[in-house]
Amino acid sequence: MKLIKCKDYNEVSAAAANITAAQIKEKPGSVLGLPTGSTPLGMYKKLIEMNKSGEIDFSPVITFNLDEYYPISADNDQSYYYFMHKNFFDHININTQNIHILNGEADDPERECGDYEAMIENAGGIDLQVLGIGQNGHIGFNEPDDFLISATHKTHLTESTVKANSRFFSSIDEVPIYALTMGVGSILKAKKIIILISGKEKAEALKQLLSGKITTKNPSTMLNMHRDVTVIADEEALELIK
Ligand code: F6R
Repeated sequence: MKLIKCKDYNEVSAAAANITAAQIKEKPGSVLGLPTGSTPLGMYKKLIEMNKSGEIDFSPVITFNLDEYYPISADNDQSYYYFMHKNFFDHININTQNIHILNGEADDPERECGDYEAMIENAGGIDLQVLGIGQNGHIGFNEPDDFLISATHKTHLTESTVKANSRFFSSIDEVPIYALTMGVGSILKAKKIIILISGKEKAEALKQLLSGKITTKNPSTMLNMHRDVTVIADEEALELIK
């Protein structure tokens, strides 16, 4: 596992944007796996600037988002569909047909998840998967548990994640308690993975990830089984690493 040590959030965002841009320059039709959350916002801003200045072209790029609440409608301003359009897709020259986000209103969530896996496969698999990490080590909505699920699936959110996400909703009761998420196996199939980690709240999860020990109690540690993972972390997140 490669570690890029950054001074602060801004450096994390720049490093992640540069890696993503390099991927697109090397392979214009790259398939990207994308996260939501606060952490990637800086990276998205920098990618928007690079697109506007003509440095990178998103028109042939294909994207698959990691996860979506369930049930939730696309026009709900807390949906990940809404988030991605507002913070990224509406500002770049991506072909909307190339955007894939799990449908939070699917009648048959199991089928939706199976179809999503097949679509990723048909697109040739994910070239670069960008990840954030939860304070408890979750990646996507793969929460710490006695076992983890490999494929894309519907999952129950833990109390701590519902609580962490309630900051975006007007009350905790409005936070959906289910989500559709790519599984750990789906994530590990990506050819290359970068994981963005900023802030001291993530320090313990990062310490476990870098320990090299693999445990379902910290799903991010599964990344130790992949041959091309780059951790991009700032000083605050690295405070427990000597
Ligand atoms: C979001 C996702 C989550 C977040 C994680 C960190 O699509 O998959 O695993 O990456 O919850 O969120 P932030 O960046 O808000 O701390």
